[in-house]
Amino acid sequence: MSELRPPAHRASFATVRRALSRSRRQLVFAVLSALACAMPAVTATAQDVDAGPYVPTPQYIVDRMLQMAAVGSNDYVIDLGSGDGRIVITAAKRFGARGLGVDISEKLVDLAVTNAHKEQVAERAKFVRQDAFKTDIREATVLTLYLLPRFVLELRPKMLAELKPGSRIVSHDYNLGDWTSDNAVTFDSPEKQVINGASQTSLFFYIVPAHVAGTWQIALPEGLAEHSAQVVLQQSYQKISGTTGGARARPLKHASLAGERIELIVPVGNREFLFNGKISGERMEGTIDVRGRGKLPFTANRVAVGKATGWE
Ligand SMILES: C[S@@+](CC[C@H](N)C(=O)[O-])C[C@H]1O[C@@H](n2cnc3c(N)ncnc32)[C@H](O)[C@@H]1O
Repeated sequence: MSELRPPAHRASFATVRRALSRSRRQLVFAVLSALACAMPAVTATAQDVDAGPYVPTPQYIVDRMLQMAAVGSNDYVIDLGSGDGRIVITAAKRFGARGLGVDISEKLVDLAVTNAHKEQVAERAKFVRQDAFKTDIREATVLTLYLLPRFVLELRPKMLAELKPGSRIVSHDYNLGDWTSDNAVTFDSPEKQVINGASQTSLFFYIVPAHVAGTWQIALPEGLAEHSAQVVLQQSYQKISGTTGGARARPLKHASLAGERIELIVPVGNREFLFNGKISGERMEGTIDVRGRGKLPFTANRVAVGKATGWE
């Protein structure tokens, strides 16, 4: 796929100055922004969005991003800031997915549409000119990003609010701040050497967690001495911890969350039960391991919503 020069209006020396004080990775974009100032504009229309420079992801890194998210034919991939469309087109052509790319540059959107036709995936790879911040991302099962670090961070609350639990996010080079990634890789990418002297690429992978913070009332299976249990969960992104027992609270032995799947070891009376559940909004259902009786079904309802880091 061809590579376009960045529109001159997107680069600013303020961007460069700000970036210089940040990490070395941010310098990649800064140098590219400065280079962009010296290049002819692709589009003459003024835009009210500071979009940063256009830097296409090398094809082999596109492949790695999509592999990292295990993209398949059931996925709907949205690339925020889609450039020439290569991520969504590759997701459709090589991975059988459907997808949407949005970019603030009309010229790049036109190019992406042309590329999708050339690659014969125009039915499954759509592109629209749109601000990433105003894009409805609720249907995405996979979200990809290669945007300025501050945009990535500014988009984080939107991702947590709109993406369904279990959706996957892959961000090229810039992480999501204090949201610890579920997986990350760093590898050599010599072609970046000529741009900024840094010859490495990082990819950060996240699974969107369900919001589970708060108080849950669990209905225990029949036949147990106790009929119900109350669990209070604290949450910071996908990390959870909790207590049970109200006034005489006892910590949960184990609590983990992966998308909408939750696992808890809850002390009940003088025993401990392993809960495996699925979250659907304010409801949790799944099974409890009860020694001697195997896995028994349980349900729980959230009776009070708690605050969680990431959703403020
Ligand atoms: C670094 S390029 C990445 C292009 C493509 N995703 C790739 O990886 O090859 C960033 C792209 O994001 C676009 N962009 C930046 N800010 C945007 C915004 N707020 N809304 C939509 N697109 C934006 C730019 O026009 C540019 O094409």
